[in-house]
Amino acid sequence: MQIVLFGPPGAGKGTQAKFISEKFNIPHISTGDILRENVREGTALGKKAKAFMDKGALVPDEILIDIIKDRLQKPDTKRGFLLDGFPRTIAQAEALDPILDEINKKLDAVVNVDVSANELIRRLSGRRTCRSCGATYHVKSNPSRVAGVCDQCGGELYQRADDTEAAIKHRIDVYKNQTQPLIDYYRKKGLLMDVDGEREIDEVRSDIMRALERFQ
Ligand code: AP5
Ligand code: ZN
Repeated sequence: MQIVLFGPPGAGKGTQAKFISEKFNIPHISTGDILRENVREGTALGKKAKAFMDKGALVPDEILIDIIKDRLQKPDTKRGFLLDGFPRTIAQAEALDPILDEINKKLDAVVNVDVSANELIRRLSGRRTCRSCGATYHVKSNPSRVAGVCDQCGGELYQRADDTEAAIKHRIDVYKNQTQPLIDYYRKKGLLMDVDGEREIDEVRSDIMRALERFQ
């Protein structure tokens, strides 16, 4: 099964992706996680991407397309995959089709998680992320059992560099201008499934599972 998890920054894509990839036993491929790992390791790619990411801008399409092309060719995508954070522009969506052709796959569904701008700002400004496993928490609505410590792996929780007020606002603008047009693009292809993301984490998860039921 090949799924794209789509939505604005802070919609809960990372939170829900974990459940979906476990349930369907497919790898969770997050371009944000791949980029942050490169930044952490100080690779050439990470050095190029950091300045764009910190201010909440998109990293250039060519870089992302190369990353996805490489990643989708790994053997663990044979059973399918869950894309989180890609595609984010029309150019990326158009580049995805020939990449999928090469590995004899096609998209089954694009799950669009919808959340209002005010709630996105609330979520992102209170988010804490695990430095070791990438799990996300929220200081109020999804706190870890012990403050600053990941429930799942005991790793240290930190605030992402792009979760500052200025960067959050910019990310939401970038989403509206460059990413939102993909909703129509995928609706026209008959792949879009809308989910109301502004409810409890468990409720959103149940809706996504219901939407994807026929692929099980
Ligand atoms: P990326 O890492 O993809 O960031 P994003 O799209 O901004 O998404 P987030 O990770 O911020 O949010 P999320 O939807 O995963 O929400 P989460 O589950 O954490 O990208 C980062 C940067 O990398 C980009 O800005 C860009 O520079 C670059 N990049 C990546 N891909 C790219 C591409 N394709 N092209 C170009 N550049 C690219 O949840 C958020 C918070 O809310 C958490 O605290 C969580 O606990 C809480 N929460 C979740 N669900 C709920 C709920 N139902 N109720 C209450 N709280 C909730
Ligand atoms: Zn962790």
